[in-house]
Amino acid sequence: MMIIAGNFKTNHTRSSTLSYAKGLNQFLRDRQFGAEVYLFPPMSALAYDDFSHFSIGAQNAYPVCGGAYTGEIGLDQLNELQIKTLMIGHSERRVLLGESDQICQRKFEFFAHHGMNIFLCVGESLEVRQAQKVREFLALQLSGIDLSYARLIVAYEPIWAIGTGVSASLIEIQETHAILKDLGCSRVVYGGSVNPQNAREIMSLDGVDGVLVGGASLRLESFCEIIENGEMK
Ligand code: PGA
Repeated sequence: MMIIAGNFKTNHTRSSTLSYAKGLNQFLRDRQFGAEVYLFPPMSALAYDDFSHFSIGAQNAYPVCGGAYTGEIGLDQLNELQIKTLMIGHSERRVLLGESDQICQRKFEFFAHHGMNIFLCVGESLEVRQAQKVREFLALQLSGIDLSYARLIVAYEPIWAIGTGVSASLIEIQETHAILKDLGCSRVVYGGSVNPQNAREIMSLDGVDGVLVGGASLRLESFCEIIENGEMK
């Protein structure tokens, strides 16, 4: 079953997320798709995860139950909303907010210990790719992560393909997913300029277990088209 996730980043409000989520749930119910669908709205729009046909996830959380961590939310806040899915280490957090591999590992350990579904984002910069150091770089980002954790989904998101409108080539995606599988990742989704036009080809590649979609998930119709494209696997 394909894994298809939408990452709103800092887009949509609480009310627009709610109407989107209702529309998405209805679409999935009416069409009976066999896909595993996730939605990551901004923090202010996190709602009770009671949509029967997809799961709401948080784009970030701090590895504590609660306490003095201004600006963060922890396990208590996620539990109250029955949110069981968390994204860790998106490159925007790594690059813009200085999130290190070490803090990603701590987040993974804590939230895996509490049984959450975890999307762990990894991916190299253009410099790393040009220096042909992709495998070493990804291995470093995964070091200290228990890859046998059953609720782990690794999201391969090359930084140079995010939000640029130009996804990695099919060959680059297939080769890099093969590296990640070889390193021990069992479920690997691709992210980086996925849209309704390229989603089908990307999802039909060996080693691709789904997609993580940013910009093209913001409009419900476009996200639904991507979900329809994931049906064939
Ligand atoms: P994009 O973002 O689809 O807009 O490139 C993907 C992501 O950052 O998750």
